[in-house]
Amino acid sequence: METFPEELVSALKEVVDNSSWQCVGDKERFKSPCTKLYSEDGEHLVLIHTDGKFYAMDSACPHEGGPLEQGDIEELCNGRLALTCPWHYFEFCLDDGSSSSGLQNQVYDVKVCEGKVYIKTPNALSFAPWKNSKFERSGNTESEESAKGVEDESSLTYWACRILCTADPEEKAKLTQQAQVLWNAGKIVEIGQTQPPTQPKRKENLTIVQPGRIKRGKGGTLSSRIALLHSLANIEQWAIDLSWDIIARFALFQLQCGEKLPREFFTDFVKVAGDEAKHYCLLQKRLTDLGSTFGDLPVHNGLWQSASDTAHDLLGRLAIVHMVHEARGLDVHPQTLQRFSAQGDEASARVLEVIYTDEITHVAAGLKWFTYICAKEQQDCLSTFHKLVPLYFKGYLKPPFNTEGRKSAGMSEEWYLPLVKPS
Ligand code: FES
Ligand SMILES: [Fe+2]
Ligand SMILES: [Fe+2]
Repeated sequence: METFPEELVSALKEVVDNSSWQCVGDKERFKSPCTKLYSEDGEHLVLIHTDGKFYAMDSACPHEGGPLEQGDIEELCNGRLALTCPWHYFEFCLDDGSSSSGLQNQVYDVKVCEGKVYIKTPNALSFAPWKNSKFERSGNTESEESAKGVEDESSLTYWACRILCTADPEEKAKLTQQAQVLWNAGKIVEIGQTQPPTQPKRKENLTIVQPGRIKRGKGGTLSSRIALLHSLANIEQWAIDLSWDIIARFALFQLQCGEKLPREFFTDFVKVAGDEAKHYCLLQKRLTDLGSTFGDLPVHNGLWQSASDTAHDLLGRLAIVHMVHEARGLDVHPQTLQRFSAQGDEASARVLEVIYTDEITHVAAGLKWFTYICAKEQQDCLSTFHKLVPLYFKGYLKPPFNTEGRKSAGMSEEWYLPLVKPS
């Protein structure tokens, strides 16, 4: 067999090797500790510069996609450095991406050569999002119209919009439970067509901050448990709004065959809204038992992004909010539960168990209506899901998955494994 000269082989190797190192500029350019970089394949990375050393990892948190580039760098008990996610404070080791939560983030090799910084990835990197990327999102053209109360209490969208426009979370939860009772008793007859606001209302004295500016205690302390419960209560407040938003925003949705959504669709999401209101109340009660209350700590509003992105696309909404984000909630449940159990906080652990059992049914509801619409429109549900997720959700789905929990919701691996980054 013909062999190639050794120099040619090593020259080719070098070319291949060099092509997987992306130069991102002069070392001096990276003064701040975290710099976000956009990858050509739709992913994004964070380049970390601390104590004169560089590290890189995916910037979408493997938990629920929090912006790691806005996180803080902290020293772990073992002396290693970690980046802490601003959303729920899971930390990711800068060296290998591992986390005590059991999650794993993708890290990249970084080298500095002749004053320039190089990151090892086959995809080109940029400081700005790539134009024409297949992941580029379409803009939300919805007008800044707020809810118009043109209907009375006998329409479901009137209730949905009233609740979305209610800033006080306690009141929001109370109205939700009231609406659920009326709906179940057949006292709300019409679906209605009241337009929902672009964004739900929040209390004026609630401190809204950029993720990354939130103070917290060290792991295992009472203050860190309060911070975690507080961030979960914030998620539940958004979850109440997301349930009412899907009802109001898609009230007039028509299938291609001209049929409207059946009443059962609305019944399912009224039930989801009722559950989320219950979750908020349970967490708020735990916060007060522990000497705090919702609103004591700053929150961020990053969670409404998926709703805005899918405001015009019901299948996209079901896929992202219920089958990606809510399913992710099932994945992280075991580790979150462990955090409270390890501290002997059984009361909080019981609350998390109640939430978990309900959340399985929420993923199931998303799946049920996603497959219903696909079947009616003669679309293959799996390939539609695999097409929609990359459109609205940046990056890949990240293991570990709670296979059992997802299975209980009816979600088998064929739904999510094809969306994991190929190794
Ligand atoms: S999104 Fe990062 S810890 Fe939850
Ligand atoms: Fe919930
Ligand atoms: Fe939920």
